[in-house]
Amino acid sequence: MKHVKDEGIQNADRFRTPPQLTKDQCDAAIVHVLKQIDGNLEIFTDQFPDIVSTNLRYTPADNYEWTPGFWTGMLWLAYEVTGDEKYRRAAEIQLSSFKKRADEQIGTETHDLGFLYSLSCVAAYKLTGNEEAKQTALRAADLLMTRYLDQAGIIQAWGSLSNPKQRGRMIIDCLLNLPLLYWAAEITQNQAYFDAAATHAKQAAAYLIREDASSFHTYYMDVDTGAPLYGKTAQGFSDDSCWSRGQAWAVYGFPLNFIYIQDPELIDLTKKVTNYFINRLPNDYVCHWDLIFTSGSELRDSSAAAIAVCGIMELNKHLSAADPYKAIYENAASSILLSLMDNYSTVSTPESNGLLLHGVYSKPLNAGVDECCLWGDYFYFEALVRATRDWKLYW
Ligand code: GLY
Repeated sequence: MKHVKDEGIQNADRFRTPPQLTKDQCDAAIVHVLKQIDGNLEIFTDQFPDIVSTNLRYTPADNYEWTPGFWTGMLWLAYEVTGDEKYRRAAEIQLSSFKKRADEQIGTETHDLGFLYSLSCVAAYKLTGNEEAKQTALRAADLLMTRYLDQAGIIQAWGSLSNPKQRGRMIIDCLLNLPLLYWAAEITQNQAYFDAAATHAKQAAAYLIREDASSFHTYYMDVDTGAPLYGKTAQGFSDDSCWSRGQAWAVYGFPLNFIYIQDPELIDLTKKVTNYFINRLPNDYVCHWDLIFTSGSELRDSSAAAIAVCGIMELNKHLSAADPYKAIYENAASSILLSLMDNYSTVSTPESNGLLLHGVYSKPLNAGVDECCLWGDYFYFEALVRATRDWKLYW
């Protein structure tokens, strides 16, 4: 693996003392999460919340975009936390929509099949042994495999494989789509799924992570020769800035890949990208939408913060008790989570049907700016579940 700089933690004193985050506080936050889910259940059983809220309210959408799985994933989390069958019933109704989507290839020219199917069908199979969900998730894994470009060793992120603008383009987010392939390899005993995912993860480490441990959002490879070409942003401030959510995808994505690949270099790399992320947190610990901003009035992206909390929690599971970063990471994750609970939750915003305020989907496109984001809500709930119990991953 190429040399990547470790900044260390530049202001470690910020994270020496554990913040006042108790299990009771997290349980109370979960009560609010369940209240919001209950309020949404009637509308969002046959349809899904849209990608982001509009004026803080989600409106119904079909199963087309990259995000519906986050809603079904929240229903599975709610089922696990409460044991209440109403959440399982709603999630199971949604499985047929995911089956139709995979069977009819509706909006499947995307790498986001992992987000979509890990949190819906793989979760269903892991929690309830649902055979049809297993078959649907395997179908999705096969569709994802069609996007693997052998020469470049990557999964193309967006669009048709012949689209010249998207050809050979990988993006940092894809790290969370790879667990679908590792799972498929385990289920089918077909090593090809594993090899594609592991090769992509290594290419992501080599080219999407820069030498200073920041990340490109996207990177182009020559699909004929496999040569690396150049990095480019899509949702960040500029091509050479570091989009906060991209860095958060790296913080969570590499440990998820480590679970399957067991390459310690991935943990080493995660520590470096995590340090880069933590070093740029403003006073309230919730990152701006791009890490080029470290203070001032630029918008935050609460969804990136929630992803990073889950990532740091997962990373810490793989560090030894003697690791000097372990306590700092634990305190950093708790500080971010506490700030999300205190300052970003919709608990005092009754007009919203979401969970987390102040997310940003795409600032350059002015889409979903300062709104609730469906994935931000999912990762916030996952973080609370992780903070309160021993949770077995859907990823
Ligand atoms: N994966 C798309 C995004 O993070 O906006």
